[in-house]
This record gives sequence, C-alpha cells and structure tokens, in this order.
Amino acid sequence: MADMFIKKAEYVASYTSIKDCPQSQLPEFAFIGRSNVGKSSLINMLTNHKKLAHTSQTPGKTQLINYFNIDDNWHLVDLPGYGYAKISKKQRAKWKKMIYEYLQHRMNMICAMVLIDVRVDPQAIDIEFINWLGEHHVPFVIVFTKADKQNEEANEAQMYKFREALLEYWNALPQQFITSSENGRGREEVLQFIQKTANDYYEQL
Ligand code: GTP
Ligand code: MG
Repeated sequence: MADMFIKKAEYVASYTSIKDCPQSQLPEFAFIGRSNVGKSSLINMLTNHKKLAHTSQTPGKTQLINYFNIDDNWHLVDLPGYGYAKISKKQRAKWKKMIYEYLQHRMNMICAMVLIDVRVDPQAIDIEFINWLGEHHVPFVIVFTKADKQNEEANEAQMYKFREALLEYWNALPQQFITSSENGRGREEVLQFIQKTANDYYEQL
C-alpha cells in the first residue's frame, strides 16, 4: 500500500568518518540516543519498513554512520548510540570523535533527532549530550520513545521531569515529540516536522 508520507526508503551505505560521507545536497536528519533507546525500531516505524534499520537485542552493535535515502528528498542518518557500557575507553573516544565531528561539521545535517526513553528518569549522559549540541549550535529536537510501555500519566510525569532537567541549563526548550514504534504513535508529527524542515532548507538553497 502506498504510504502517505514515505514512498521510498532505501539503505545507501555506511561510513566510519565524516570525510567519507557522500557529497550530497540532500538535507540530513541524524537519529541518535542512548543504546537500546529504540532507535532502530523508530526508524523502521517511520519508514514503514520492518527491517530497514537492524533491530537487535544486543546493544552497541551499530558503530557506523548509516545512510538511508528517503524519497530522494532527504537522508535519514542512523548514528551509533552512546552510553553503552561494554565498550573500551579507546572505542568510546573513537565514537566521540566520529559523532562530534559529524554533528559539528556536516553542513547539510539540518536536525539531530535525539531519542529519549520516556520511561527513564533524566540521565546525565543525555543531558550532557544535549548541552553539547546546544553549545555547538547543532539544531536538534527530542523524540521520546516507547510511549506504549506505560500509561499517559506516567508519560506526562516523565516528560515533565526531563523538561525540568533541561531548564536547569537552558531557558528555551527544543521541540519535542512522543512516539511508539509499537503502535505508530507520533509518526505523522515527526514526519511532518521533517518534511517541513527539509522544505525550509530547500527554499534557502
Ligand atoms: P541499539 O542499536 O542496540 O543500541 O538499540 P536501539 O536504540 O536501536 O533499540 P531497538 O530499536 O533495537 O530497541 C530496543 C528494544 O526495545 C527492542 O527489544 C525493541 O523491541 C524495544 N522497543 C523499541 N521501541 C519500542 C516501542 O516503541 N515500544 C515497545 N513496547 N518496545 C520498543
Ligand atoms: Mg539499533
């Protein structure tokens, strides 16, 4: 069945560094978050592909910058997650260099989609990462995941806590979405945001 939002979603390639990333004018939306946050599931849900991004029970598997072409209109970039305990200091340093260079210097990376598990209390590692984005003027939004796993009151309470944690550092909050890969919640909102942001980018070219 034809999808209202996405007609084509295909894997392009994976890269180990920003210098290998393709020369392209397509706007890029980079998905990132703590390991096991539900990133692969969200990517599959958004693109309506069961196995576009590899969903696994083993965290920390993805260690590359993975490119997906969406409708020849934008690139979905799947970044390796942070906060996975079982990697060495050396690997962690490598991750940091790769991700920070990409986010800071990739000119057509127009929005980072920062995934946060809506059930989990604000974590220092998430706040620190978000603070780094803010300090380096990297545009980003927050995408809460796994909304189906608890009731709505709990979702609201957790999102409130997260906003409060951010407001300790910032006086304006980024745009936020709540999603579930299980039931498709938030799909329309996230894709409409991406579409609009991509359109704005094309208008400025
Ligand atoms: P890594 O790449 O391994 O770091 O994980 P990831 O962030 O890609 O997470 P992944 O999509 O693999 O999901 C991790 C686990 O959470 C899996 O068991 C998923 O089935 C589950 N999960 C992800 N999103 C949702 C959701 O919205 N609802 C529910 N109920 N489960 C989810
Ligand atoms: Mg994954």
